[in-house]
Amino acid sequence: MPSPRSKQNPRDDHYAQKARKDHFPARSVFKLQEIQQKVNLIQRGNRILDLGCSPGSWLMLAAELTGPTGSIVGIDIQPITVSLPSHVQMFIADMLALPDDISEVVGRDFDIVLSDMAPSTTGSKSVNAARSMELCHAALSTAQNRLLPGGHFVCKIFQGEDSDAFIHQIKSLFNRYRIFKPQSCRKASREIYIIGLNKR
Ligand SMILES: C[S@@+](CC[C@H](N)C(=O)[O-])C[C@H]1O[C@@H](n2cnc3c(N)ncnc32)[C@H](O)[C@@H]1O
Repeated sequence: MPSPRSKQNPRDDHYAQKARKDHFPARSVFKLQEIQQKVNLIQRGNRILDLGCSPGSWLMLAAELTGPTGSIVGIDIQPITVSLPSHVQMFIADMLALPDDISEVVGRDFDIVLSDMAPSTTGSKSVNAARSMELCHAALSTAQNRLLPGGHFVCKIFQGEDSDAFIHQIKSLFNRYRIFKPQSCRKASREIYIIGLNKR
């Protein structure tokens, strides 16, 4: 039986309610959880870079999965609102123009680069897809420069005419890849996740 709140607001669905109940700031946590179930991505002790990390759900889940022997660095243009354990560090910065001093502190040699970055959307699907693709390229170049060989990359894409070319690049840079639309993505959304496994 839907709660009175979900009757008022269709965006307040089962996943949004469960995220609130589990004290996560966003329903997107379930997308990373499904990715984890599908490919067993995050291991204890991993070093992870999370691009577009605000409001902080993926940071919280990643911190739980790595445990305190791991370390997680998040970057977003917006601040996060949750408190995080000491093995998580967050920087406010634009991935399309990352300042040199932050770039240096963030460092290299990550086991996993995650990107759930999403542009602010407009009414035009093609503009949204083009802006998303710009963020995907920034994320991929970050993964190329900062992932260890054998490392993994997860990137959200809004499907558009350039998606196939991007997927082709992932195929050439990683030994294996998956394209995945988690059940928890909104049905109307054009988002999918591309997962590159074992960087060459
Ligand atoms: C869907 S939210 C990410 C949710 C996050 N994974 C979580 O679980 O809390 C997308 C994020 O991408 C960020 N973003 C968009 N453009 C960006 C950019 N150029 N650089 C860094 N972050 C960006 C937005 O500010 C927004 O917080």
